[in-house]
Amino acid sequence: VRSVTRPSSRLSLEGAGWEPQPDELGHFQLLCRRERGWLSWFPTWLRPRAWLAARNEKLVLFTRGLGRFAIPDPTTAQRRLWLEELGRPALTVRAPSRRRHSFLLVGDSGEGDCSQMAVVTPLLNEDRRRRTDFMLILSDVLYPAGDVNEYREKLYEPYRRYPGPIYGIPGNHDWDDGSLHGFMFHFCGVATAPSAAVERAAGSRLWHRSGEARPELEQARRSRESLRGPWPAQPGPYFALDLGPFLVVAIDTGLGRTIDGEQGAWLREISRVPKPKLLLTGRPIYVDGTYAPCAIEDDSGTVDEIVLDPDHGYLAAIGGDIHNYQRYPVSVGGGRRIQYVVSGGGGAFMNGTHGIGNVGRALGGVEEPDFRCYPLRGDSLAFFSEIYDSRLGGFGLLALEPDEAAAALGGRYGIAPTRPEACRTEPSAKTRLRVPVVLALESFFRKTLSFVYYPALDRDTAPFFKSFLRVDVEPDDLRIRCFGATGLLRHETDLPLEDDLRWTPERGWTVSRATLQPRGDSGVEGSVDVYREPGARDATLVVATEDSPGLELLLGVKPGVWRDRRPLGEPIVVERWVEQGYRVTGLASGGEVVAEGMFV
Ligand SMILES: [Fe+2]
Repeated sequence: VRSVTRPSSRLSLEGAGWEPQPDELGHFQLLCRRERGWLSWFPTWLRPRAWLAARNEKLVLFTRGLGRFAIPDPTTAQRRLWLEELGRPALTVRAPSRRRHSFLLVGDSGEGDCSQMAVVTPLLNEDRRRRTDFMLILSDVLYPAGDVNEYREKLYEPYRRYPGPIYGIPGNHDWDDGSLHGFMFHFCGVATAPSAAVERAAGSRLWHRSGEARPELEQARRSRESLRGPWPAQPGPYFALDLGPFLVVAIDTGLGRTIDGEQGAWLREISRVPKPKLLLTGRPIYVDGTYAPCAIEDDSGTVDEIVLDPDHGYLAAIGGDIHNYQRYPVSVGGGRRIQYVVSGGGGAFMNGTHGIGNVGRALGGVEEPDFRCYPLRGDSLAFFSEIYDSRLGGFGLLALEPDEAAAALGGRYGIAPTRPEACRTEPSAKTRLRVPVVLALESFFRKTLSFVYYPALDRDTAPFFKSFLRVDVEPDDLRIRCFGATGLLRHETDLPLEDDLRWTPERGWTVSRATLQPRGDSGVEGSVDVYREPGARDATLVVATEDSPGLELLLGVKPGVWRDRRPLGEPIVVERWVEQGYRVTGLASGGEVVAEGMFV
């Protein structure tokens, strides 16, 4: 497949980073500390220390319903006590006034190993290409258990070259330190140990509690603080950031993946501010092909009910927790779509996407062709087949080839594979035999032993299939891009663009977009925005490029093979958009291609 300039797993195996040669590997090799000695043979998650440190969530879960032996979840009480200790701060902070704001969203980052480091160089390069104002870590800042003394190696060191402030919202693993002490110390400026009241809120003697911060951690926190400039300090574990024309609302879903009544009341109130909004949440609302609306304690409502209210103006709800990228554009009536996104691929061990079936059949309001994920389902299955194979002796009896895996899953789920090559691939008899075995192993690991063993399937070699988001907001214009981090050197500077979407008040969300890059030295650039009403068959294409007469829009299903040509001008209507399956586009002038791009 000939290149259309930007690499991506949606277009080619090469864009996904499959089968890298040793000399193609990127800078993560220099950043990740490799352990030595016999212990290095054990994945971190298989070590008793990591299990024991992250036990609180399990204690709550496993003792639920055991009457007087039940260990209650102290999150709500502790969260309230922390806010009291902070003097009940105003939870809405205002960004410096600018025309444009940009930020990076990194989900579930802090494992401290190669998969985290694989994201660092691409992230910094994207920031250098066009500066962002801040970075926000979306849930699970630190593994295994938010330890106040591990922030240097898992947060400050990796991102020390990022020049702006870093905000965060805590995930269940940050609460696993016993009281959220680590997060409160490093993100909310609580310089002391938790008060006796916060400690007491967790009643059980089995409860894991964090130690005190060492002096060098206070030092590290201060030097990070000095990079904040005119940006406000983070007021609490949940807060709102007013960017001018948009409001970013960040909630803390705690240990039990719910929010407390007090936070719920705050969320209802802040949601009435008349501005378009983005919700950031630890726990995502649509995930793995299921709907999890997130309960509010002492309240019959859910977080999603607040998001859905048309008066609140939510455009998207982005959650972490699950370590990959998924996007569900949900039609919620009145021609409105809300983007429900999972973005937890910022560093820690990978979670698979291959278990996500046809989302159009499983969920209301979502159409399968509009669903996006990274890694692609076939790549995810191939990735895990290699892991299972190596765990079971490395005889090559289970390993699947990515395009064949995609074709086999496509047949199973009734979906069309994404990569053009995979569409033309017929799974071999061998693949047909292996796929059910791999899926059965998956089900065994995931359903029965997920808490303990699933992270033990961590693989710290390229391709990593990690990702992060870049969000750009201007008045009346919001853009979200998902970049892949494969671990390959060439992808650290030329980042795979795995998703790209844009919202404007007149047209709402795009269903697909292409960025056009110049072919040769033509210098012609631009973009193609694709809009489609929920459920409609035809799409409207809006091309933005310099005004040059005689340009034609090209549409094709694979690079270099054009099936349709349209004169530029009025918005272009393409009939039966989904069935056409266009993946690549370009501009031609006098019969010669002057710019090319691919739809994501
Ligand atoms: Fe996580």
